[in-house]
Amino acid sequence: MIITIDNLKGGQGKSTLSLLVSLETGAGIITNDLYSPVDKALPAGRCIKMKPEDTDEKLKELDRKRTVILDFGGYADRRMLTAIQMANVVVVPTLNAFADLQVTIKTIQEIARHNRKILVVVNRAKSGDLEVVRNIIHGAVGEYPILPLKTSVVLSRLYKSPKPISQLVAESGLNAYMYGELNQQIQAIIKTIAVIAKS
Ligand SMILES: Nc1ncnc2c1ncn2[C@@H]1O[C@H](COP(=O)(O)OP(=O)(O)OP(=O)(O)O)[C@@H](O)[C@H]1O
Ligand SMILES: [Mg+2]
Repeated sequence: MIITIDNLKGGQGKSTLSLLVSLETGAGIITNDLYSPVDKALPAGRCIKMKPEDTDEKLKELDRKRTVILDFGGYADRRMLTAIQMANVVVVPTLNAFADLQVTIKTIQEIARHNRKILVVVNRAKSGDLEVVRNIIHGAVGEYPILPLKTSVVLSRLYKSPKPISQLVAESGLNAYMYGELNQQIQAIIKTIAVIAKS
């Protein structure tokens, strides 16, 4: 399964989401971001950095029996098109400010020309945000599935203290109380990714 994470705008949560899903599922990550700290948060070999000179032929040879997350952010990359065309699901994280949503809508329109298996994740969603963003996205580009991911200190610290959130929640009652909702949101995202990929 190939999961491509994409938004034309930076800072929407692509790498955070990639790392979250990798920690929960054991999926590998391929990124074009040579400065990304994601590789240091994962066991050796789980994150691969594609150099600018690496062609998309390497992507085309990926073993689909394994789950790979393509976190291709940072700059317009000619390999992005291949990453979108190949994906079993394209996940688009977005913040909910007007300026972010405008770029997210453009991103979805671009992706949908090549692949319509799209999941939108409203990152840093507060209660009530999801409904508003759902109406905006559905009105602009169509009825794509949309799920929330809340703001959490464990996510801002995830690179430094990488741990599956499900494991964190299982460790103590206090953790379950603090991170239970976050864990439910992450599990819903992972489940929906699998459902869309199989559809
Ligand atoms: N839900 C969240 N809760 C707390 N912090 C978050 C959350 N999502 C993202 N962040 C923080 O916001 C910043 C940007 O997130 P991230 O690096 O995942 O974005 P990105 O889309 O990969 O950015 P880039 O385009 O630079 O690659 C990071 O410092 C990250 O730790
Ligand atoms: Mg990133």
